[in-house]
Parts: sequence; structure tokens; C-alpha cells
Amino acid sequence: MKLLEDRIQRDGVVKAEGVLKVDGFLNHRIDIELLDAMGAEFKRLFADAPINKILTIEASGIGIACMAARHFDNAPVVFAKKAQSINLDGEMYRTRIQSFTHGKVFDVIVSKKFIGPDDHVLIIDDFLANGCALNGLLEIVEAAGATVEGIGIAVEKGFQPGGASLRERGYHLESLAIVDAMDPTTGQITFRQAGEP
Ligand code: G4P
Ligand code: NA
Ligand code: NA
Repeated sequence: MKLLEDRIQRDGVVKAEGVLKVDGFLNHRIDIELLDAMGAEFKRLFADAPINKILTIEASGIGIACMAARHFDNAPVVFAKKAQSINLDGEMYRTRIQSFTHGKVFDVIVSKKFIGPDDHVLIIDDFLANGCALNGLLEIVEAAGATVEGIGIAVEKGFQPGGASLRERGYHLESLAIVDAMDPTTGQITFRQAGEP
């Protein structure tokens, strides 16, 4: 999506160790018009899917998911919650997510009240790197007996393995921008072009 790529080129900051900061428009201050356009693009990309629920994970996925939901007939948004450790009471789907960026393991929970077998789910998140967060969300959808209609990502880091692995497993994954290379010295960012593998 050219609008997002241009914004990343303009306002994104390349940090060491493959981290892209997008605090100016996505992760801290939020550009609502950009998010709205991203939501419209997700709708175009998943137009044929019978999506009735959007699932994301706190915190940064929530805003993107909520704006996208406006383009999917106001489908309800459910966000998975992170907890350091919880006692399972049977009312929650739970999975564990290892965050490489933060070097922590989280319990991630979704109430059984809010996802079930009738749901056709679009999973949304801001970043796709190693795919740990996505895998956790996929486990929860599966445990709920719901259907994964697709995965929509704002920024995929194509030099990390999450995206390739999810596509190989057959998921309909659409990333609005795929960063194939970043140079922290020059700040140069290279995007994958449409049609490139
Ligand atoms: P993974 O889920 O794909 O395996 O990624 P990883 O564990 O490395 O990511 C941990 C967190 O860092 C995730 O957010 C993810 O969205 C975010 N992240 C990964 N790479 C980048 C990056 O290059 N730039 C930015 N800005 N974020 C990145 P989180 O901490 O779990 O959630 P949130 O509360 O920040 O949304
Ligand atoms: Na995130
Ligand atoms: Na994040």
C-alpha cells in the first residue's frame, strides 16, 4: 500500500537489530486518516471473505483493528489480553507467547464468551516479525472452533520468518507494507514490490 510505504519512508526510524520505529503515526501518536485508509485497503483485500469478527492483541493492534472494523460492517473487535501469569478458571482461552523483542513470555487470554464456532475471524496486528503473537492468536481461534478467514498486518518485516511461515501454512495473509531490508546507518528502507515472492 503506497500510502503506508510513503509514510514509513517519511516518518519511520530504522533502529539497530531490525527494529522499525513508527511512533509518529502508528504506535504512539496515531494518524486516524491513515488507519482509516488502511482499513479500506484490508476490506478490498478480504472483500470475498465472510468476516464477522476481528481479533487482535493489545496494545498496538487495537486501534488498527477498530478502524478496520468500520469497513467490515462494524464487526466486533476482540483483543487478546496479555498477563504475566494467570490462574485459568476455564472461562478463558489461553496461550503463551514468547516476545523476542521484550525477552518475556506472556500468557495471552481471550474470554470464551467472545469467540466461538460461528465466528469467521480476520486477525489484525501492527507488526509481523517472527510470528509468535500471530501463532498465539491462531491457536486461540482454533481452540474456539472458529474459522480464520485471513490475517491482515500493517507492517511485515520480510527479513524475519513469520510471514513466509504463515503463507506456507496456507493462510490468506495480507501485509500492507513488507520491509525486506533496512539499514540503520543510512536509514534506507526497501519494500517488497507487488508480485515479488
Ligand atoms: P512476533 O510476535 O512477530 O514474533 O514479534 P516479536 O515477539 O519480536 O514482537 C514483540 C512486539 O514487538 C510486538 O508487539 C510486535 O508487534 C512488536 N514489533 C516487532 N518488531 C517490531 C518493529 O520492528 N517495530 C515495532 N515498532 N514493533 C515491532 P507487542 O510488544 O507484543 O505489543 P504492543 O503492546 O507493542 O502492541
Ligand atoms: Na503488536
Ligand atoms: Na507493537
